[in-house]
Amino acid sequence: MCGIVAYVGPKQAYPILINGLKKLEYRGYDSAGIALLNSSLNVYKTKGKVSELENFVKDVDLRGTIGIAHTRWATHGEPNQANAHPHYSQSREIALIHNGIIENYGLLRKELETRGYTFQSTTDTEVLTNLIEDIKNNEHVSLFDAVRIALNQVIGAYAIVVISYDDPDTLIAARKGSPLVIGIGKDDYYVASDATPIIEYTKNVVYLDDEEVALIQRSSDLKIKTIRNQEKTPYVQQLEMNLTALEKGGYEHFMLKEIYEQPFSIKDSMRGRLHTELGTVSLGGIVDFEPKILAASRIIIVACGTSWHAGLVGEYLFEDLARIPVEVEYASEFRYRNPVINESDVVIAISQSGETADTLAAIELAKSKGATILGICNVVGSSIARATHGGSYTHAGPEIGVASTKAFTAQVTLLTLMALRMASLKGTLSRTRYMQILHALELIPEKVAQTLILSKKTVYEVAEKFKDVRNFLYLGRGYNFPVALEGALKLKEISYIHAEGYPAAEMKHGPIALIDEDMPVVFIATNKGTYDKVVSNIQEVKARKGQVIAIVTEGDTIVKGMADYIIEIPETEEMLVPLLATIPLQKLSYHIAVMRGCNVDQPRNLAKSVTVE
Ligand code: G6P
Repeated sequence: MCGIVAYVGPKQAYPILINGLKKLEYRGYDSAGIALLNSSLNVYKTKGKVSELENFVKDVDLRGTIGIAHTRWATHGEPNQANAHPHYSQSREIALIHNGIIENYGLLRKELETRGYTFQSTTDTEVLTNLIEDIKNNEHVSLFDAVRIALNQVIGAYAIVVISYDDPDTLIAARKGSPLVIGIGKDDYYVASDATPIIEYTKNVVYLDDEEVALIQRSSDLKIKTIRNQEKTPYVQQLEMNLTALEKGGYEHFMLKEIYEQPFSIKDSMRGRLHTELGTVSLGGIVDFEPKILAASRIIIVACGTSWHAGLVGEYLFEDLARIPVEVEYASEFRYRNPVINESDVVIAISQSGETADTLAAIELAKSKGATILGICNVVGSSIARATHGGSYTHAGPEIGVASTKAFTAQVTLLTLMALRMASLKGTLSRTRYMQILHALELIPEKVAQTLILSKKTVYEVAEKFKDVRNFLYLGRGYNFPVALEGALKLKEISYIHAEGYPAAEMKHGPIALIDEDMPVVFIATNKGTYDKVVSNIQEVKARKGQVIAIVTEGDTIVKGMADYIIEIPETEEMLVPLLATIPLQKLSYHIAVMRGCNVDQPRNLAKSVTVE
């Protein structure tokens, strides 16, 4: 949530900042702003998207070689111009951008008000800006120390960048709980919420750690201290990201590009890990923890949103293949419900962004109880990746569309690999069965490509037919139940049609009351597991005149005779079906959203990286 970009160096800052904001817009897009320092410190900000900010500043003087910029996802105060960042301090000598929540801002604001400060916005951020100014003036300290001291008084999460009229060569950046990366160029510095705005300028980056404050000065080395004034040596890392991965590459939307990337992203998730010829699976990041997993009384999976759905598939996989009990928890519930956790538990945190605040908090809680924490993250170097004891990256490449697609299939691929590895160590599958699954998994990227072709025509027809309905129901059983949940979530997120996912057999305990001739019901009715039961559920819907759209295995004849629309996917092993069946559902929501004129990549009210609870 909220994107931060800053620059100091010899180049003009504005083009770097505005392009950076466009790359970070997935993090929030309800208002945007920029502060540039030349002969004065000027803040320009407006409600709406970055394109509106560009329009807003088209006639102003944008010169300056140091500046900060922000795109917002509102937490405190409605998304309007006054609440947009950057925020000036009272004297207008300091400007600040912030991602996170200052929880004790009410108290701090009251104290500042008694000292004569007035506020232009209802944000927590403006409070922090004035707190820094107050400390700087009253304690006669440098801007750096004022920021440091102020952050000692703050409860909550922050990634901030501060700029001051008095200090035209300096940016101060700090983080706790929200991510911040500093790019080190030849003679300049870049700061951003993630590396995407930085990659085209430099591959050398420093990820700030929690409670670290960076002094970033023109023509000086980067200096880092903790908020308690302890010196830290900056640890410079090399970015491995590829610039073309951040472009749309000829697709109309990032989401569509990411859907079509899945044959490759799934392959990348398996690369160097699945060795069919040797009959092995190796996951370097968890190998040291395998004895722990084998000895664990259970695995607890914590995640949010789409990653939670991947976790549900993981539950079926670990229990079915490796016979390890699994609990799947919403991180937001887990962290507050006083869960029973002990040292023999293994927690797997799943997160595309690696920054989700609730998932991070769940990890910290489980860690404090002595559990072993493994991560499945997509973003390399992210907070969750660093907070865990071990784990594996999904290697799906940057996902820009707010609705998660390729990250989900990559997460499921990794969970499949983990479950297979555990199954081989525990001997819970016969060698023949284990090898059959390994071979089938190897073929999945090719089958995803076939699915994209096979489903193309019907998915489009279904989208046209149902684009104006108000409700959708998604039903599946076994491995296909999480697929139903994920299909419904995708539709809700980007088309704003109300959709519910249910285990198909639960339909008769409530949702069946909704079914009439206007109700589209998507069944994931592939030919393994509980196929016959699902066929009966389809009959129950047809008997009530519901409109059935069925995802079936290629060549199916039974469901074909009953459903109104048939979407075929290639044959595979039961536990691998989610990797294929999800694809047409992603495309269905994509087409419906486009037909309804919705902003597919940036759906209303959502953000890709939820760094607040
Ligand atoms: C947000 C995104 C979802 C995502 C969820 C969890 O709500 O819009 O697409 O599934 O956060 O994010 P994570 O990065 O932890 O997977």
